Amino acid sequence: MPQTILEIDQLKKYFHIGKNKRGAIFVRAVDGVSFTVDAGETFGLVGESGSGKSTLAYTVIGMYKPTAGQILYRGQSLGVEAGRRPLALKKELQIVFQDPGSSLNPRQTIRQILEVPLRLHRRELKKSELEQTVIELLQKVELSPDYMYKSPPSIGGGEKQMVGIARALAPNPSLILLDEPTSALDVSVQAKIISKLIELQAELNLTYLFITHDLSLMRNVATRIAIMYLGKICELASASEFFQHPMHPYTQMLLSSVPVVTAEEERMKPKKVLSTGEIPSPVNIPPGCSFHSRCSEKSRPCTVDDPGFIEVSPGHLVRCHQFPTDTSAVFDEREILHRQEPGPVPFIAPLVDPFSGLVEGRTSDE
Ligand SMILES: Nc1ncnc2c1ncn2[C@@H]1O[C@H](COP(=O)(O)OP(=O)(O)OP(=O)(O)O)[C@@H](O)[C@H]1O
Ligand SMILES: [Mg+2]
Repeated sequence: MPQTILEIDQLKKYFHIGKNKRGAIFVRAVDGVSFTVDAGETFGLVGESGSGKSTLAYTVIGMYKPTAGQILYRGQSLGVEAGRRPLALKKELQIVFQDPGSSLNPRQTIRQILEVPLRLHRRELKKSELEQTVIELLQKVELSPDYMYKSPPSIGGGEKQMVGIARALAPNPSLILLDEPTSALDVSVQAKIISKLIELQAELNLTYLFITHDLSLMRNVATRIAIMYLGKICELASASEFFQHPMHPYTQMLLSSVPVVTAEEERMKPKKVLSTGEIPSPVNIPPGCSFHSRCSEKSRPCTVDDPGFIEVSPGHLVRCHQFPTDTSAVFDEREILHRQEPGPVPFIAPLVDPFSGLVEGRTSDE
């Protein structure tokens, strides 16, 4: 029975960006997201630019305080910024950032960069052991010991990202959030980084929350996939179920534009591009289903009611009015998450949404 390592429950992160005559204006970057990640899996979180993927990752890692909702690591609450989390918990969750260039201090040597998490999280290491541990970390990502003396501006993008991965590995974490770790890199380097990540996962027993906009990458890497749109999950399924039976019109839109290689992939690919257009601003999310403004399948309820999750087959969740409207078929998300994981259910405090009277609206005073 797989063990839940991370549980995200109705997580919200809103950014206050100003006010107009009707009150404060917020960007609803993450707007009620729930899912669980099992130990050892690669959970793929996929969405277009601006869908809230990085905000979700930064909230889980503790760079942002959640607006509402719960984050649990092996049942322990992480609902505060990293500075207020116990060190032993902080060590377990690490992140690899999207842009390896800006995530490494250009004025430090690679040795200094890697020593920061070692000094913080591996205090058992003696001063004399630090250098050897840095060399071992570099070896894990196939960089030679002489990289210790280099600084980020003097090495390539792929090498910088390898250092970013080594830094994430330094505390010996269990879970690594990979925020588009290859999107800023050349295609040839991307493949090398991905295969290294897969190798490290097996070698070190790691769990990945893999964030990307590249669905084709997830075909070979993810165990489960969630699609994020305007701060919400609209579909979640195991990777095989996801590619065989994509249900949400948005998923079908994304899949119809994914290049295929094999005849089998061609057979499974949705034939019609169902939707077009740009993702709306998260400051001005349309009422009803947030995807309705781009959805060619929309009907009247889609413009009025935000659909809940429907479990269309075991573990396959879709948030769309096209599926059974019988309310008995609409499950409570928390109930589904826990039903997959029998055993003790961690206490989850009642959620208070401080933004229930929130003004949705415009970006400027009008
Ligand atoms: N600190 C912030 N203050 C205000 N708005 C923010 C902030 N950070 C992100 N946003 C907004 O939140 C929304 C989600 O942004 P986020 O960076 O999480 O998206 P993303 O899915 O990671 O996009 P990308 O694929 O481009 O990295 C965007 O509209 C973005 O402009
Ligand atoms: Mg991002």
